[in-house]
Amino acid sequence: MPVKTIAVLTSGGDSPGMNPAIRAVTKTAIRQGARVFGICNGYQGIFDDDLVELTERSIGGVLDRGGTFLQSSRCKTFYNHEGRVAAVRKLFDHQISGLIVIGGDGSLRGAIEINKLGMPVIGIPGTIDNDIYGTDIGVGVDTSSNTIVELIDKIKDTARSHRRCFLIEVMGRNSGYLALSTAISCGAEVAVIPEFRYNMPRILDLLANRYRNRLNDSIIILAEGVCDADTFIKHMQEVQGENVLKQEVRKTVLGHVQRGGRPSHFDRLLASRMGELAVISLLSGERGSMVALNRGRLTLVDLEKVCTMKKRLPNDIIRLARHLGIELGDVVEV
Ligand code: F6P
Repeated sequence: MPVKTIAVLTSGGDSPGMNPAIRAVTKTAIRQGARVFGICNGYQGIFDDDLVELTERSIGGVLDRGGTFLQSSRCKTFYNHEGRVAAVRKLFDHQISGLIVIGGDGSLRGAIEINKLGMPVIGIPGTIDNDIYGTDIGVGVDTSSNTIVELIDKIKDTARSHRRCFLIEVMGRNSGYLALSTAISCGAEVAVIPEFRYNMPRILDLLANRYRNRLNDSIIILAEGVCDADTFIKHMQEVQGENVLKQEVRKTVLGHVQRGGRPSHFDRLLASRMGELAVISLLSGERGSMVALNRGRLTLVDLEKVCTMKKRLPNDIIRLARHLGIELGDVVEV
């Protein structure tokens, strides 16, 4: 059956750029002669029959707004097979013939199951974590990184004034991408990320040397996937032993501020491009794929592959961090 009525939902943690993606889906679909329904509150909205028809009017003013105006959730009912069967039945009851899912890896895993149950699905990677296999970057990563950089720049002002070391915990779930890439653009001394085993004696030596040489601030960026900031500071104190660090160490946990804010130009453009391609693909019979950015070009990647393969940190970014003197720790054997 050709797709005529598209539904779109945002699921999991929101990310800046989801609104421009929904907008592009709506505008493109309408111009292609299809109807579009927004499912509110992620997959949960399917069970709650919470669908609204999207028109040019309903997407007015959303382009520059962070978050997702359709709202999002992590839906428990959807985790089991019976729940997903019920969801697909509901979608067919609403005359939906194709679905676009905007979200992270958990949401895209759900999308595969829906696709297998007969509802054509196209995914759009939307998460700040940049942990989705098959795409160089997802919607929201750029804005979130810009926010982190802006905040760390501010922290550096006060760190320098007091000759302090700051430990800054950033999001990213199990990925060190946000921590590593912002360590480069903030000029941090240390990046503590799940992909490497940190070496505390080496970190403490580095901090002590900088302090002795009157290099006034030291920044450690800690990815939340390693441990929380308090645990890390406790470990610092334990390893110091008698040789106590003379410098004060303060922590800042950036938290959900990293997920908010107006989407950057990059994210608006990426989200719009991905939204448009998702609709064109669905209408031309494509299903079970995710739109992706590879070396500047949009492509389609098999969703099964996206959800079974692990995204690795780019080697050139790791090499760059090392060449810039950022302490990363030791490679973890796999
Ligand atoms: O996946 C996005 C993300 O922001 C992660 O970086 C973080 O670990 C998680 O979501 C936080 O989720 P919640 O908003 O449910 O606390």
